[in-house]
Amino acid sequence: RRLRRILSLDDLEAAARRHLPRPLFGYVVGGTEDNTGREDNRAVFKEYGFVPRILTDVSKRSQATTLFGQTYASPFGVAPMGISALMAYRGDLVMARAAAEANIPMIMSGSSLTRLEEVAEAAPESWFQAYLPGEPPRIRALVDRVARAGYGTLLLTVDTAVLASRENNVRAGFSTPLRPSLRLAYDGLVRPNWLLTTFARTLLRHGMPHFENSYAERGAPIVSQNITRDLGLRDHLNWEHLKQIREQWTGNLIIKGILAPEDARIARETGVDGIIVSNHGGRQLDGAVSGLRTLPDIVAESGTLPVMFDGGIRRGTDVLKALALGADFVFVGRPFLYAAAIAGQAGVRHAIDILAAEIDRDMGLMGINALSEMGPDKLYRRAHAV
Ligand code: FNR
Repeated sequence: RRLRRILSLDDLEAAARRHLPRPLFGYVVGGTEDNTGREDNRAVFKEYGFVPRILTDVSKRSQATTLFGQTYASPFGVAPMGISALMAYRGDLVMARAAAEANIPMIMSGSSLTRLEEVAEAAPESWFQAYLPGEPPRIRALVDRVARAGYGTLLLTVDTAVLASRENNVRAGFSTPLRPSLRLAYDGLVRPNWLLTTFARTLLRHGMPHFENSYAERGAPIVSQNITRDLGLRDHLNWEHLKQIREQWTGNLIIKGILAPEDARIARETGVDGIIVSNHGGRQLDGAVSGLRTLPDIVAESGTLPVMFDGGIRRGTDVLKALALGADFVFVGRPFLYAAAIAGQAGVRHAIDILAAEIDRDMGLMGINALSEMGPDKLYRRAHAV
């Protein structure tokens, strides 16, 4: 019933704002410092307009996209988002199942509250995203564990050498671990849906949600290595560690968080299987440009390496613009977490269906049958963003 009013991905943000306690919504919606990274992610799309073709017979259009030998229903997937199970009951599982059902990829976050094995069991096609410390023995152990769990694709997020500014979270009253406070209690009471559907259910079935992560050992589903401890030597991480991972990991290896074309070249030479151009949804270095700005230069450095993109995608037209600028595939973050929070698996499925329907309609209006027809000739760079 709630979903009937959700006509676009942006409607999910408005609904989640009403559903989630303010500190939690603030954590998801926020960027860092002055939010300029997050805002650039939206602004850049407005700098491009379309130049559609006409009378081309678009009756055979298909958005099916092949990536790493796998054919997905659409050219987009679910980006990794940490501590999702705090916003939505069993959030990671919900997003993984909805994505599997729709035949699109979902990336399980390494700073999730759910054990990584659980998601691999529920949705074996999911990918796994790791945050790794610059410590070879721990890297070896974690990579081994991800392989044993059955994941075929490992992502290393590389734009988090140090933790981003927590200023926005402090202002929103959000902390890790989430501390009971008057503000949180008040917010929970005036938004009872979250309290009942997520917090109470989690508390009853799994205990108090802490901020430990999916590296939690089997048999200790909630309490585990503390996430902040895991970040310990993350600032030591360098290309040598990536080489180590490449030698050990036989599946697809992807690095996420590239913005500089030169880094794309080094990544390719290190032997990764793909890269995700991203400014982390504007949540790490404030003022980092949208990846869409450097995407064409990165594609030029990447040879045949698949190049993926995320950040600010909210419409089918945004997907087509990213593909026209050279992306092979894209990921969407926040809207799917909002959907999981509001309406669980059905909500995420609804969000996926909205975006897929928009892409299909936009392809018809662009005069194309295949996504490979999206190229720079289909875009016009405006002098001023609309
Ligand atoms: C993230 N992101 C993220 N990235 C990652 O590699 N590991 C992680 O654990 C997280 N956690 C996370 C939590 C939340 C609440 C958000 C919103 C984002 C970044 C994410 O994968 C992606 O890069 C951006 O969210 C994409 O931008 P949009 O689609 O949210 O605008």
